[in-house]
Amino acid sequence: MLVGPPGAGKGTQAEFIASHLSVPKISTGDILRANVAEGTELGREAKGYMDAGELVPDQVVINMVRDRLAEPDAEDGFLLDGFPRTVPQAQELDKMLADLGTGLDLVLELVVEEEEVIRRLSGRRTCRGCGKIWHVEFDPPAVAGVCDRCGAELFQRDDDKPETIAERLRVYARDTQPLVAYYGAQGKLVGLDAVGPVEDVTQRAYDALASYG
Ligand code: AP5
Ligand code: ZN
Repeated sequence: MLVGPPGAGKGTQAEFIASHLSVPKISTGDILRANVAEGTELGREAKGYMDAGELVPDQVVINMVRDRLAEPDAEDGFLLDGFPRTVPQAQELDKMLADLGTGLDLVLELVVEEEEVIRRLSGRRTCRGCGKIWHVEFDPPAVAGVCDRCGAELFQRDDDKPETIAERLRVYARDTQPLVAYYGAQGKLVGLDAVGPVEDVTQRAYDALASYG
């Protein structure tokens, strides 16, 4: 699984790491945003929390992940991005995986300082078609506002407004940062310097995966 502050590059790296490992990427943020876009009951329940930069209640997200892990493509492994996010979610995940006769192999912590994540989130753009993550300055498409990969338009996430970014960072420090100690105590945590070109960070992740089996 990947852990790190908003804007650390979890979604960007998750794409590469999941395809490198030939496992599905399970991103609770992506699943929640898809539900909001489709106007499902789950989406309607989650939207207010997401727009405010708050976490969606644990039980809602836990049920969502339990369903996702039961899908056939997760049988031989998966990469978690954005879950767990609180100690109760981590405890529930440990139980869920123990029931399935498995457990997490490794937790990669993407380490980036706050000023840099603010720059990253402020300039982030996402493709409406294929979901690829861009940045107006650090990873711009050839034509502004248009995805190079699929030609669809790019949009800015509703929660990437300055006041919401500040709240998400506070929530991360309060609710999610404790997972670093939680997984450290399990001997599963590897800190990864997530500053520098995207491909350098990806290589560091691959090296960490290789050395921890
Ligand atoms: P979620 O979607 O998980 O958002 P997040 O954790 O805030 O993380 P982000 O997606 O903002 O950032 P990222 O680390 O993926 O960075 P990215 O790769 O895009 O959650 C959203 C909301 O959903 C939450 O606030 C909550 O309400 C709810 N939610 C989700 N999961 C939940 C859970 N488990 N429990 C409860 N609620 C939950 O990169 C950012 C930018 O930087 C991009 O523009 C990218 O191009 C650029 N970039 C990436 N790498 C680099 C690099 N090396 N150098 C320069 N720029 C880079
Ligand atoms: Zn696209």
